[in-house]
Amino acid sequence: MADEFSLRAATVEDAKTLAALNLACWRETYASLLPAEIFATLTLEERLDHWRGVFQAEGNIVALAMDAAGEAAGFAHWRAHELALGGRLGRGGEICAIYLRRSALRRGLGGRLLRLMAAEMRASGLKWASLVVLRDNLPARHFYEAMGARRFGRELSWRGVPQVAYGWRDLRRLGR
Ligand SMILES: CC(C)(COP(=O)(O)OP(=O)(O)OC[C@H]1O[C@@H](n2cnc3c(N)ncnc32)[C@H](O)[C@@H]1OP(=O)(O)O)[C@@H](O)C(=O)NCCC(=O)NCCS
Repeated sequence: MADEFSLRAATVEDAKTLAALNLACWRETYASLLPAEIFATLTLEERLDHWRGVFQAEGNIVALAMDAAGEAAGFAHWRAHELALGGRLGRGGEICAIYLRRSALRRGLGGRLLRLMAAEMRASGLKWASLVVLRDNLPARHFYEAMGARRFGRELSWRGVPQVAYGWRDLRRLGR
């Protein structure tokens, strides 16, 4: 059950925890999805710089999930952004990252984090949200689709790796 995890807002004090958690999740998720030369560039130092930068910039919100033993089990990061969705440029929520440790998968925690993000986005006046996912990350795509997201736009590319975009036109429809 998802209730075995506790959620809290992360701060800059959590940057080291997030960097280590992020790297561990990336290694578990992307070993078979990223070319070896890109996979080799994923380092703790780069992640630490990233998270310190996230907390220095305005508008980033990060939720951290801890398991019953007090270990970091996953996180979600979102912010507001401007995007052309369906031809209209507007301000919506951007899901920048959602990652769980392998031991925490398929226990409802991802859905819980996503619903928390949606509730916070709506509370801050945002009506829609989007994200980008590696095209070949099929488990994550199944998750977003199960949570009501729909693909939009053309295929994108990150360092030569194909990506696709998903979104919820109406955040009230996020979830199951
Ligand atoms: C994607 C992720 C956040 C989903 O979180 P989760 O806690 O495992 O998912 P949930 O338990 O909330 O699943 C909700 C529903 O999504 C769908 N789903 C989730 N994982 C799935 C999978 N691997 N395959 C197919 N459907 C899946 C199911 O319909 C599931 O409901 P069910 O368990 O009742 O069948 C998590 O799997 C994860 O962190 N993966 C590795 C990192 C990653 O790929 N992140 C996304 C990068 S863009």
